[in-house]
Amino acid sequence: MKLALPTLALALAASTSAQYYNQSKPFHLVVVSENKTIDGDTLSACHTGAAIESLCLSKQPSSSKPTPITPATFYFNTSNSAITPNDTRGVTGIVTYVLRTNLPTPESLDLYINPTSDVALPLLWPGDTMATTMNFDNQNLLNIQGYVDDTVSPPVARDNQAYYRWYSCSTYWQGYQYVTLAWKLGKGNPQNPSCVKIDVKRVWI
Ligand SMILES: *[C@@H]1O[C@H](CO)[C@@H](O)[C@H](O)[C@H]1NC(C)=O
Ligand SMILES: *[C@@H]1O[C@H](CO)[C@@H](O)[C@H](O)[C@H]1NC(C)=O
Ligand SMILES: *[C@@H]1O[C@H](CO)[C@@H](O)[C@H](O)[C@H]1NC(C)=O
Ligand SMILES: *[C@@H]1O[C@H](CO)[C@@H](O)[C@H](O)[C@H]1NC(C)=O
Repeated sequence: MKLALPTLALALAASTSAQYYNQSKPFHLVVVSENKTIDGDTLSACHTGAAIESLCLSKQPSSSKPTPITPATFYFNTSNSAITPNDTRGVTGIVTYVLRTNLPTPESLDLYINPTSDVALPLLWPGDTMATTMNFDNQNLLNIQGYVDDTVSPPVARDNQAYYRWYSCSTYWQGYQYVTLAWKLGKGNPQNPSCVKIDVKRVWI
């Protein structure tokens, strides 16, 4: 039997065709963690390929970034048909950044999935075709939402839930090794032993 989910179907159709040109004020992304070494640190844009950046922790040393760097300035782009599924969990949009080269390049945050790891790497890519929709809740905490629960068999569709599966991990991508933001795919702890649970908070500049 086919489930009738007209609202979700509409929301999905809107989000895949949406253009995210309504830009928020600038902000920093701040690490919130019980781990005092990284609590209060910020996220920076760390070069990890041609016009590709990972979100590294500004003050955490690594072989590709031995010394602290300045926090990056981010924006939250929403569409003019922005759907607010729930005021508590926040409006849907994309996290964006402007890469300052000869010409400023608008970029968006997308989860890069390595099939042999259980953490995805959020990377900034030019344009908005590669972008993962995200939300900031009413505490300014970054979350990703979904309505399918596949931890039960058979999987069920239910109300949207906000997930906060952010970690700080030592990661490696195309020759660059940093301590970066990472996203755990599914429940449980990451296999990468360096990962520390964090939340990501928006702080207006
Ligand atoms: C975000 O919105 C601004 C303002 O409309 C736009 O210039 C920029 O290209 C957008 N960023 C992305 C990555 O689409
Ligand atoms: C806290 O974070 C630092 C930096 O990532 C890490 O070296 C350390 O092992 C962490 N401590 C705990 C208790 O997880
Ligand atoms: C677009 O952004 C402006 C300024 O932040 C805001 O007042 C307006 O409500 C936004 N429109 C939508 C559809 O989100
Ligand atoms: C909005 O989201 C919160 C947190 O997930 C939840 O407790 C609440 O029931 C939701 N409200 C509606 C109207 O769905």
